[in-house]
Parts: sequence; structure tokens; C-alpha cells
Amino acid sequence: MEVIVNETYEEMGKTAARVVAKTLNAKPNAVLGLATGSTPLSLYQELVRMHKDEGLDFSQVTTFNLDEYVGLKIDHPQSYHYFMNENLFQHINVPAANIHIPSGTTDNYEAFCNWYERRIVECGGIDLQVLGIGSDGHIAFNEPSSSLGSRTRIKTLAKPTIEDNARFFDSAEEVPIYAITMGVGTILEARKILLLANKESKAPAITAAIEGPVTSLCTASALQLHPDTMFILDRAAASGLSMLDYYEWIQSKMPDAP
Ligand code: F6R
Repeated sequence: MEVIVNETYEEMGKTAARVVAKTLNAKPNAVLGLATGSTPLSLYQELVRMHKDEGLDFSQVTTFNLDEYVGLKIDHPQSYHYFMNENLFQHINVPAANIHIPSGTTDNYEAFCNWYERRIVECGGIDLQVLGIGSDGHIAFNEPSSSLGSRTRIKTLAKPTIEDNARFFDSAEEVPIYAITMGVGTILEARKILLLANKESKAPAITAAIEGPVTSLCTASALQLHPDTMFILDRAAASGLSMLDYYEWIQSKMPDAP
């Protein structure tokens, strides 16, 4: 695990964008796993800027989003389809046919979930997976007590998640109760993982994920079992880490490492 601490939210996005760009430079047809929510916005803004100013090319890229609310049509302003189009896809040159987002309106969820898993494999697997983290430690919508081997499926959102996400809706009653989400097992198969977190409200979840036991009660802690995970944090999200000095020492010594 690598822990990188940035002073600001904008800097966090730039650090993550450099990792995405490095992946695309090495493999122009890379498969990216993408997240929604407020956390990755500074990353997406920087990717759009790099595309416009520096020609960062997405023409061969394939994407898979982590999750979608059940019941929201793709043009609902709070759907993750809408979010991705607004904040990233319409501003870059990724072909529409290469974009995958779980369906929140299929009439056969089981078949759709199985297809989504198969499609990831057919496309060669996810090279780089971007994640946020919930204040309850969830990754994607794998709420506490999700199996650490879980695959794409329907999940019932936990009450704290519904309360957290109510800020995007007119009221908590309007937040969907179910989501379709990649599983922890699906996520762990990505070749490289970037988990982004900012704000003090994420500090307890980040501390549990990085320094706590591996437990389904904090599904992000399963990333401790992954061979190539990078946590890109702002200082507030990193504030509860007991080994913070060491993580920063590692980063400062990285350029000279043999
Ligand atoms: C979104 C997702 C969620 C969010 C998490 C944090 O696709 O999978 O796990 O990353 O709920 O949300 P924000 O970034 O809004 O704090």
C-alpha cells in the first residue's frame, strides 16, 4: 500500500490524474474503473484539462463504473449515468460504445450483473480502478458486512449512506434504497487501485481502512490484501493515521529508492 498525502483537494485530484495519465501513456487502450460522488470531481476536472490542453487521449479507453442507483433513469440528474456524462464523458474523447455503467432500470438484475462481470473479463480486466470511500468505510456500495468476495449485485444501502447522499436529493426520502454495485471481489481483481479521500469526515474510515483489521465491517480494509493500492488523501482525511510520519517519510525517500 502506498499512502500519498496532499495539502488540498485540488492537489489530490492532480496527483490522481497523473497516475491515470501514466497508465494511459503506458497502455492507450487501458480499462479504467470509475467512481462517482463528490470525491473524484477534482480528478475528473484535471483529466478534462489534460485532454484539452495536453491532448491526453481516451479514444481507445474502455470504462466501467462501480455502481448505479436502482430505479433512476439515465437522465435523472442524480443518476450516476448523468453524473459521469456531465463531469467527464462529454468533455473527453472516450467512445460511447466503450462506456459501461451498471443499469438502474434493467428488468433482470441478476442477468445484468452476470453480464457486467463477464464484460469486464472480455475487455481484459480493469487496469486502474478509482475509488472513493463512504464514511462507513464502504467502497462502491459495498456496505459494512458485505462479503469481501462479493461480485456485482444489488445492495441495500445502509442508513448512514442514505443520510450522506441525501445532500444531493431534495430529501432523504428520495434517495434510492437499493443500488447495483460491483462487489469487493470484483474490485480486488483490478490490477491497480487508487482510493481517493478528502475531508475530516472521512478520517475515521481512512484510518480503519489502512490501519485497522481486514474486516467486512469496513469493506475498504480489504484493499490491504491488494498488491498495488494507492491511497491519495488530503491532509484532513489523513489526520487520524497513526503511521502518517512513516508514510510521508516513504514518499520523501521514494525518488532515491533502488
Ligand atoms: C460512488 C461510490 C461510493 C462513493 C462514496 C463516497 O461511485 O462508489 O462508494 O465513492 O460513497 O462518496 P463521496 O465522494 O460523495 O463522499
